[in-house]
Amino acid sequence: MNIVLGITGGIAAYKAPDLVRRLRERGADVQIVMTASAAEFVTETALQAVSGRPIRSNLWDKEAEAAMSHIELARWADVVLIAPATAEVMARIVSGGAPDLLTTICLATEAPIALAPAMNHVMWSNPATQSNREVLEQRGIHILGPAVGSQACGETGAGRMLDPDTIAATVCGLSVGKGEGALVGKTVVITAGPTREAIDPVRYITNRSSGKMGYAVARAAAAQGAGVILVSGPVNLPEPPGIDVHHVTTAAEMYEEAHRHIDKADIFIATAAVADYRPANVPEQKIKKNSENTSIDLVPCPDILASVSTLEDPPFTVGFAAETENVEQYARSKLEKKKLDMIVANQVGHNRGFDRDDNQLSVLWKNGKKEFAEATKIELARDLVELVAERFYAARGADTQPKLTIISTSD
Ligand code: PMT
Repeated sequence: MNIVLGITGGIAAYKAPDLVRRLRERGADVQIVMTASAAEFVTETALQAVSGRPIRSNLWDKEAEAAMSHIELARWADVVLIAPATAEVMARIVSGGAPDLLTTICLATEAPIALAPAMNHVMWSNPATQSNREVLEQRGIHILGPAVGSQACGETGAGRMLDPDTIAATVCGLSVGKGEGALVGKTVVITAGPTREAIDPVRYITNRSSGKMGYAVARAAAAQGAGVILVSGPVNLPEPPGIDVHHVTTAAEMYEEAHRHIDKADIFIATAAVADYRPANVPEQKIKKNSENTSIDLVPCPDILASVSTLEDPPFTVGFAAETENVEQYARSKLEKKKLDMIVANQVGHNRGFDRDDNQLSVLWKNGKKEFAEATKIELARDLVELVAERFYAARGADTQPKLTIISTSD
């Protein structure tokens, strides 16, 4: 994996050599591009020693440009990571300005971009920075952190750069596969996000799913070389590059769309939080308030997962179980009842599971179980997809298995 690591001028730049080591331990080739102000905090000599490559810093360096121009560098990258990312570089990227080599690469690359912000907590919470963060996220740029804690300035709050190991593990799960990986030649169909069931023309029933888990699983499967078809409910996330995304609204539409692709699927992963019930009748006009109490008649929605696992020749089928109590017990009963190959259980509830960047998973299958400790959904998705691939080949026979490429390894 080729990573362009941009280092900008914040005190957290002193952690950059450690970050480079963590990325290289995971098999990445790291090309450092540092800004002039980053050089105030960390030396080129240290960075060159740990990265094993000459440092790039000047857009107008004729010799370096002749060896690999900024456009070639932008194309070489599987991921562009900026750590630490200052408020200034965030604002520059939002505005589309390209006054130096790093921001020029950000404009010229088609690779995923990830920023690990680091700054004083008041600068981070400033409305200008927060509005820039929102714009960057809407454009599909990954914002990693920041962490909360004591800061170099002696104050405490949100603004510390995430620790290098977490950044490295997350970034190594981001790139879309390049014809390598455990799932080359396989097709994975994934459902993600919530569904919406109309009550009347202006109201609907839905749930708190953001789609983050499902989109991370889709990226991780693509990073392992799979062709990925993502059937997504209404979410506020950018479409991941290289993935075939189909947008739906209701459970019935998700059922139809998933079944339209299912005969191509080697693996089906149902991360979506699909409505179990929908209103029986949807009036054409808005329901008027005319009594104290009212009720809505509900009828069951089609169960997409159960319908796939009971096909005559089903794909390897993985369900998710969102539970607020007795997580493992309920998940195991869904595994058996829905005739699944695997189920991924997560505890949900107040500040857990739904609409968060992190999660904690227990994966269950007949006679087996694996726990994944709390981590970002990007990291969990990467580990989960590696496990799904392993179980898939164990179930279908090793002869169907391509050469396994470990996209990343953890310590
Ligand atoms: O989207 P995020 O904010 O990142 O949150 C992630 C998540 C919590 C939504 C996700 O990790 C998760 O747990 N998804 C499953 C949620 C759920 O609806 O669980 P369930 O126990 O109700 O359903 C069990 C399984 O059946 C799920 O795989 C679900 O996709 C599937 N199902 C359920 C009902 C239905 N009508 N059709 C289905 O396919």
